[in-house]
Amino acid sequence: MQSTVVTRAHSRREALDLMNRVFINHLPVVDDGGRVVDLLDRKDIDQQILLSTPHMGSAEREYVEEAFQTNWIAPLGPNVDAFERELASLVGIKHAAAVSSGTAAIHLGLRLLGVGPGDRVFCSTLTFAASANPIVYQGAEPVFIDSERKTWNMSPLALERAFEAARSEGWKPKAVVVVNLYGQSADMDPILEICNRFGTPMLEDAAESLGAMYKGRQSGTFGALGVYSFNGNKIITTSGGGMLVSNDGALIERARFLSTQARDPAPHYQHSEVGYNYRMSNILAGVGRGQLMVLNDRVRARRAVFETYRSELSDLPVIEWMPQPDWSYSNCWLTVATIATSSRVGSTELIRRLAGEFIEARPVWKPMHRQPVFAGRRYFTAGDESVSDLLFENGLCFPSGSNMTPQQLDRIIGVVRSILS
Ligand SMILES: Cc1ncc(COP(=O)(O)O)c(C=O)c1O
Repeated sequence: MQSTVVTRAHSRREALDLMNRVFINHLPVVDDGGRVVDLLDRKDIDQQILLSTPHMGSAEREYVEEAFQTNWIAPLGPNVDAFERELASLVGIKHAAAVSSGTAAIHLGLRLLGVGPGDRVFCSTLTFAASANPIVYQGAEPVFIDSERKTWNMSPLALERAFEAARSEGWKPKAVVVVNLYGQSADMDPILEICNRFGTPMLEDAAESLGAMYKGRQSGTFGALGVYSFNGNKIITTSGGGMLVSNDGALIERARFLSTQARDPAPHYQHSEVGYNYRMSNILAGVGRGQLMVLNDRVRARRAVFETYRSELSDLPVIEWMPQPDWSYSNCWLTVATIATSSRVGSTELIRRLAGEFIEARPVWKPMHRQPVFAGRRYFTAGDESVSDLLFENGLCFPSGSNMTPQQLDRIIGVVRSILS
């Protein structure tokens, strides 16, 4: 006969599987002596804690409702114009164009910087594929740059090595895509100094870092162009969307033109260039306006999540949190750490065991130079070691949502402690 008890050693998933097999909603937990020490209730145990979920404020519906009432159910419209203005003013930049995704914003940005077939573009290796894919959309070749330990972002030393190698081989990259990982700015001063010295524009992929700061200045405002994402998992969301920003009004004007099918100013439909359908809709921009009003709250909440993990688990030396240099004000989009190789349980096993407790954790981005789709592309490190490889092999992201309850956070911390100690 099937056993209908579990012990503390069983995971929540195993307990739930057992409940499903024997069609019950409650399950006793027994100790080594077979004594009942707890009772599991189905409704308490299959609550999944996700990595990062949307967190709406109170004004989003009003803006969306207004769009319905005025029948602005279209790409473009008053919410789009206002969202662009409000975001630009919040981050302290002159111009912004709202588009359908962060990926679209990167694609437009590269095209605006003149990236085309046969060009090469330097790009952070430790990132999501969307930082690099648009380089290929333009027929150009990505060349990947390693991270530094201090920030986990692009290593200025590796970047300089790449520029020097290019110069000695007689070529020059058309642009540099610098990613601000997990909500923390890259070390912009040395990176910009190198880009300026070699005369190459920088596109700042701030998809994950809206609301973060570098030396007191908003992340996303350092490059010739900056990009934000409002994907569903980001610090604020429009369900899907992006923004391209710049202090150069002509660039943003051209981004608007290209993102609305590059239509010439003629009475009929006339096109002298190939464009895209990349504009944001007036409804989604309404969601964005509401979300922008709570951005600072969301940043504070995510920073508090990180602080709680760090302080509550400070007695576990095998966990090494993503470092935050003095100049960094991270938005802590995700709380990320590496697990020491000396640990009995490594990051992959920890992710698996957390999944057994209905807690979603994910590996750190797999570096682009290791992706099958980019096999054979060039890759520069600062020295002999590849930092991004080490971070990928030992790193994981913990649930970090601004709408997690203190009880959920306590549960995660308790589970991590029981697995790692
Ligand atoms: C670093 C980075 N770049 C670009 C993107 C692309 O943004 P989107 O999903 O809005 O296209 C994302 C996230 O999705 C990202 O994390």
